[in-house]
Amino acid sequence: MKYLVTGAAGFIGTNFVYHMLEKHPSDLIVGIDNLSYAGNIKNLKKAQENSNFVFRQADITDQDAMTALFKEFGFDYVINFAAQTHVDRSIVDPGIFVKTNVLGTQILLDLARETGVKRFHQIGTDEVYGDLPLEATDQFFVETLPLKASSPYSASKAAADLLALSYNRTFGLPVTVSRCSNNYGPYQFPEKLIPLMLINALNDKNLPVYGDGMNVRDWLYVEDHCEAVDTILHNGRDGEVYNVGGHNEMHNIDIIKIILKELGKPESLITFVTDRKGHDLRYAIDPTKIHNELGWLPQTKFADGIKSTIRWYLDNKDWWEEIVSGEYREYYRKMYENR
Ligand code: NAD
Ligand code: DAU
Repeated sequence: MKYLVTGAAGFIGTNFVYHMLEKHPSDLIVGIDNLSYAGNIKNLKKAQENSNFVFRQADITDQDAMTALFKEFGFDYVINFAAQTHVDRSIVDPGIFVKTNVLGTQILLDLARETGVKRFHQIGTDEVYGDLPLEATDQFFVETLPLKASSPYSASKAAADLLALSYNRTFGLPVTVSRCSNNYGPYQFPEKLIPLMLINALNDKNLPVYGDGMNVRDWLYVEDHCEAVDTILHNGRDGEVYNVGGHNEMHNIDIIKIILKELGKPESLITFVTDRKGHDLRYAIDPTKIHNELGWLPQTKFADGIKSTIRWYLDNKDWWEEIVSGEYREYYRKMYENR
């Protein structure tokens, strides 16, 4: 079998490549990434030693490059992780989100259709449902909810989901969509909550908490997400959406306090800053469908996952020090200075 994994040098894409090489050792995994600020080819160094892995630097919005790639390999499966992914960046510059997440997905869908892939899996997000009230703890995101995206990021992801599903209905393309909650684990780019707080704490820098820190996210260890995608890819039903999450809702402030405690750093580093525009209050996935239909359940408890994530960042200082000393510095200054 031949798999195309887009966004392979990003956080989840990298973890997925390693997952697939281990779980499907006789299949060919082709990873592509345009190596944007969030993609890091060093993540895939070990994978590149495996003869069942091929990496190509390529952009999913580049029609000619994608056409040549599909022609060269004749993929059985396409898994589309490639995206612009940071909500804060989408508030500053929505255009690249529409181009990458919508146009890029459409180009891949057309080629999947023309070349007759067995399954196109679109990596969606729970953010397409909008948010839930903080106090309504009996309410959860289910697959049948209408889409109600809040940010340009989530609106572009919602458009991509709908496009993918439309290719199933209109053209009969075998499509599945997963909508996962917040991931954490190794290789996550430092702009996201957990690595940002971890790295700032290690450097004794302030921890910029948006608003009052009471917003809720539903955290899932990245390997559990990879296993869910693998399961849907091979056993999911065409034209279906599967929510992925593990009932692990936490207030942002509580996550930050756990990180500080693990690192032995003082809570005085916490600084409350101006809230994110349109900030979603609470995400909470109902994973009943994927559990009942496909038997998937998360395997990693948050208490264990956060410890191994912190350990990974402590053991891989070179990885993140190189990132935070580069163009990221200017991003951080613009995003957080005088906030
Ligand atoms: P990431 O930003 O770490 O990775 C995205 C990757 O896509 C990067 O390597 C980037 O270089 C690449 N990319 C961007 N534009 C591209 C283009 N035009 N052509 C080729 N590659 C391109 O993000 P992530 O957290 O790994 O997210 C991966 C996918 O999972 C995204 O589709 C995201 O919406 C989805 N998702 C993420 C989470 C989460 O919590 N991180 C949760 C649910 C869904
Ligand atoms: O729910 C899935 C989504 O999770 C994915 O689709 C997105 O790609 C991914 O980035 C993530 O989106 P969030 O906006 O939830 O993640 P982020 O890490 O940016 O923020 C998590 C929470 O922490 C959110 O409530 C905002 C808050 N926050 C974040 C940053 C970066 C802070 O308080 N301070 C910060 O500096």
